[in-house]
Amino acid sequence: MNILVLNGSPAGKNSITLQTTEYLQACGLMESCRILDVGQRIKAMEKDFREAGELLVQADLILFVYPVYTFLVPSQLHRFIELIKEKNIDLSGKYAAQITTSKHFYDMTVHRFIEDNCHDLGLKYIGGLSADMDDLLHEKGQQEARDFFSFVLWNMDHGTYKHNWIRESTKERHKATVQGINTMTRKGTAAVVYDDDPDSPDTYLQAMLERFRNRTSLNCQMINLREFPFAGGCLGCFHCAVDGTCVYKDGFDTYLRENINSADAVIYAFRIQDHSMGSRFKMYDDRQFCNGHRTVTMGKPVGYLVDGILSEEENLRTVIEARAEVGGNFLAGIACDEDAPDQAIDQLADTIEYAVNHNYQQPKNFYGVGGLKIFRDLIWQMQGLMKEDHRFYKEHGFYDFPQKKKGMIVAMYVVSSLMNNKTLKKKIPVNMTEGMLMPYKAVIEKTRKNKG
Ligand SMILES: Cc1cc2nc3c(=O)[nH]c(=O)nc-3n(C[C@H](O)[C@H](O)[C@H](O)COP(=O)(O)O)c2cc1C
Repeated sequence: MNILVLNGSPAGKNSITLQTTEYLQACGLMESCRILDVGQRIKAMEKDFREAGELLVQADLILFVYPVYTFLVPSQLHRFIELIKEKNIDLSGKYAAQITTSKHFYDMTVHRFIEDNCHDLGLKYIGGLSADMDDLLHEKGQQEARDFFSFVLWNMDHGTYKHNWIRESTKERHKATVQGINTMTRKGTAAVVYDDDPDSPDTYLQAMLERFRNRTSLNCQMINLREFPFAGGCLGCFHCAVDGTCVYKDGFDTYLRENINSADAVIYAFRIQDHSMGSRFKMYDDRQFCNGHRTVTMGKPVGYLVDGILSEEENLRTVIEARAEVGGNFLAGIACDEDAPDQAIDQLADTIEYAVNHNYQQPKNFYGVGGLKIFRDLIWQMQGLMKEDHRFYKEHGFYDFPQKKKGMIVAMYVVSSLMNNKTLKKKIPVNMTEGMLMPYKAVIEKTRKNKG
């Protein structure tokens, strides 16, 4: 397979982000790849794009590898994308994915930028890994990188990629088709939480649910929120803050913990109402406050079956993504009854199954990292009242206040005082990036040795 890495970092070979691709090669997951130093060679490419154009055309997978720069990509990579379009390079049908490093500040906007541009270019966009710049130095980050690339390869094998909400949409609804009942052996569980009025059953939603159930090999527990005897919406009384029990005696808190949160995956299904998931579904969401700010389902994949024209509901798509990110759930996909629901539902069912079987997880993006920082500070301040949350945050190491990284703070003072030394300063610009790469190179070297 021809993999072309577009290295968008102005640091070139000294890019931290690029180390992830070297690491993947050291693991043996990425056999070989061509690297195009877009970040450093953009001026030459503006004069002569032939080599870049040829490499792009030869590639099966185009991997955008770059640092997040001020909400978007570095200007050099931005210019490179302009050049591909100006030169009319035909990339349609090729696969694309992206890897970034950053501190997660607005990483989701830049990932969307690349995704949208991939769609402009007719690329089959699979997804992205948004790593913290330190992630590769830890086993968890290394595992996430390996899992991400295996997921990319699985998608290519499977012929699956992300839906293009903007350009592929015809805004036409089609009813999913349902084949005969599948009698495969089932393993694992999915809680399928849906909102369907029994008095006026929504046939579109029902068809989506049926098709999903039929496709997946997970045991589906169907939970119609209309049938749950909710006593009412969350009262915001904070009664649950101390011990996690709700003032309502309708049994929802126990039901949620024992039947929904215990499943291997959760599927949410609803019809779009008033640009949202409808008030019944919202009641279900609010009542989850009995778990406070605890990410009790973290690590489990989620998916959505949405009845309606989701391409017109950008805010709702943001809510869906942010909800998964803050909860620590891998969003395996959103299938809606727009355009080609059968394909979308099958893809969602297969991806959910892949995620359950491989325990697939991704690092959080800005929504998740930023959201949890706000909650971290809130729970720390309210620990006297929000006792269950406080216990959970302590147990899971959520109190990662910056002042705890004392070694890092001291190291920065040392670097700063060295930089104030005029003789040393002349040498530092070169040595700084190389010095910063040393721990990454050590990880790659160790991986290569272990592999060999
Ligand atoms: C000009 C500039 C802008 C940056 N903007 C962001 C940003 O918006 N969000 C963020 O999380 N990190 C930001 N960063 C941090 C980089 O993304 C981070 O240091 C990255 O790991 C560098 O990777 P590289 O060595 O591959 O270039 C910025 C860094 C620079 C120099």
